[in-house]
Amino acid sequence: MIKTLYQQIRQYRTASLLTPAFTALEVLMDVLIPYVTASLIDKGINAGDMESVYFYGAVMMGMALLSLVFGILGGRCSAYAATGFAANLRSAMYRNIQRMAFSDIDKYATSGLVTRMTTDVNALQSAFQQIMGISVRAPFKLLLSILMCLVIDARLSLIFLIALVILSFSLYHIISRVARLFQQVFVKYDDLNQSVQENITGIRLVKAFVREDYENAKFAKAAENLYKLYVKAESLMAWNHPIMNMVVYGCIIALSWLGAHYIVEGTLTTGELTSLFTYVMSILMSLMMLSMVFVMLTQSAASAKRVAEIIEEEPDIVNPANGITTVPDGSIEFRGVRFDYQSKDEGQRSKVSPLLPHKRSALYNITFSIKSGETIGVIGGTGSGKSTLVNLISRLYDPREGEVCVGGHNVKDYDLTALRHAVSVVLQQNILFSGTVLDNLRWGNPDATLEECCYACQMAQADEFVSQMPEGYDTRIEQGGTNVSGGQKQRLCIARALLKHPKILVLDDSTSACDTATDAKIREAIHHQLPEMTKIIIAQRILSVRDCDRILVLDNGVVTGFDTHDNLLKTNTLYQEINAIQTENIGDFDA
Ligand SMILES: Nc1ncnc2c1ncn2[C@@H]1O[C@H](COP(=O)(O)OP(=O)(O)OP(=O)(O)O)[C@@H](O)[C@H]1O
Ligand SMILES: [Mg+2]
Repeated sequence: MIKTLYQQIRQYRTASLLTPAFTALEVLMDVLIPYVTASLIDKGINAGDMESVYFYGAVMMGMALLSLVFGILGGRCSAYAATGFAANLRSAMYRNIQRMAFSDIDKYATSGLVTRMTTDVNALQSAFQQIMGISVRAPFKLLLSILMCLVIDARLSLIFLIALVILSFSLYHIISRVARLFQQVFVKYDDLNQSVQENITGIRLVKAFVREDYENAKFAKAAENLYKLYVKAESLMAWNHPIMNMVVYGCIIALSWLGAHYIVEGTLTTGELTSLFTYVMSILMSLMMLSMVFVMLTQSAASAKRVAEIIEEEPDIVNPANGITTVPDGSIEFRGVRFDYQSKDEGQRSKVSPLLPHKRSALYNITFSIKSGETIGVIGGTGSGKSTLVNLISRLYDPREGEVCVGGHNVKDYDLTALRHAVSVVLQQNILFSGTVLDNLRWGNPDATLEECCYACQMAQADEFVSQMPEGYDTRIEQGGTNVSGGQKQRLCIARALLKHPKILVLDDSTSACDTATDAKIREAIHHQLPEMTKIIIAQRILSVRDCDRILVLDNGVVTGFDTHDNLLKTNTLYQEINAIQTENIGDFDA
């Protein structure tokens, strides 16, 4: 973790080192000023020597000025280093998130990633900025002040020692408790962000279901948990001040009492007593600052761990060295594939029950092959594993057992970019980005010409409605594609996938929001104009897949049939059932 964080600081090493240096110089000036004040009082004012007053006054002014300059320089360096550090952390995290596989994202959840990129990084940035200065200022000031006290009067310094023990003892107790509380805070932030993120993305659904109150309550609960933790931590911290004040006043009283005696005795001067008062404050303030450093360290350690975790995360799917860069054809083969959604380590701990082997797995013992250029339909109930199956083809997930081959090679042997260019998937949950229609289309293939885009849209039956939009292909799509209908969005996503000129096209329920006529037109256009491309069409409607060369029937993660429509009607009970229900419904509609 330390190494990971250091790598992000390295670029700002000079500034990070200059900050403590400037701070040390600033502290040196601060500590010496009271000493000069003592001389000004004793040698100048008390002795009635105006020349000494001017001299020591000028020295004091000069030192104050230097202290100011060092303070400003230190502040600038620390701000520069800390903001740079945060920027580096964010981009390192962002880069690694882009490398992550679907399974890694499942593990952290989107809201968790967002909290880490924002709240945790902010906490680290401010902690780093403050610690850089304070971690030098506090101990340095403490030591120098103690030293100066000893120089002035060793007997009176004993008072500080007693104060030091009392203060350290109480601060230790407060801080160790506060630190424990802060470790819980960031987990609560995840909950809060999850609530916010889900609610804002799904605000239309929330309104449609009149669930505002429920969502408000959910948010309030997450916010209250955080609030309670903070109140607890801050109430503990609030003890710091009164304890500190008590000790300071105790010291001042003791110092005044003993100091007065010594002055009467003639073993201490008034000037020395005055500067001792200043050093008491310095010593105790430094202790206070040191305690803050410890709080910040423990608090940011939790964030540092969460941030480093993301930067260090090795994606489940990594690009092989010297991967194959061309996919020869669009043939697909599954050999004894098993897949479940458990995380890697979880999968090793709990063995799959031998009696009900496919109960746990999303896919079990999948073996089939598809020739290049075939059109394959995939049908099965919800949750039967259709999306899971196609996600293995472009290696969005890796199978736990068995292998998936594309174009005669295991998908793991391909360069990921080459594979994913050759296998274009229109995901079931698809999104458009904010930008023009053309931007969105070219997102899949930046080099596509306008003609190519129009052609792809024609095949996807999107050309007509795009032309009718106010600015045609230059019309802006709002964030998340809210200004196009569900069916229009699906058609744009299909066009975007076609623009990659893939060898294999997977449509995961991609026409579910289109009417049956449009659905048929899209299939027809793709079938006639891209005969060499392998097409996999996942659908809920038998009507959408009945014309396919073959249809794969999935039931609860297992393939129960893979044949033509006519043959399946004769042999596959599940297919017969689905067909019966769907034709019956159409019959009702007609009637
Ligand atoms: N990211 C995920 N993490 C954990 N489990 C998942 C995940 N995605 C899917 N599952 C589970 O895997 C099983 C298969 O899901 P899959 O999405 O493949 O079904 P599907 O056939 O595509 O369903 P639908 O027709 O509703 O799209 C389901 O039981 C589902 O709960
Ligand atoms: Mg699905």
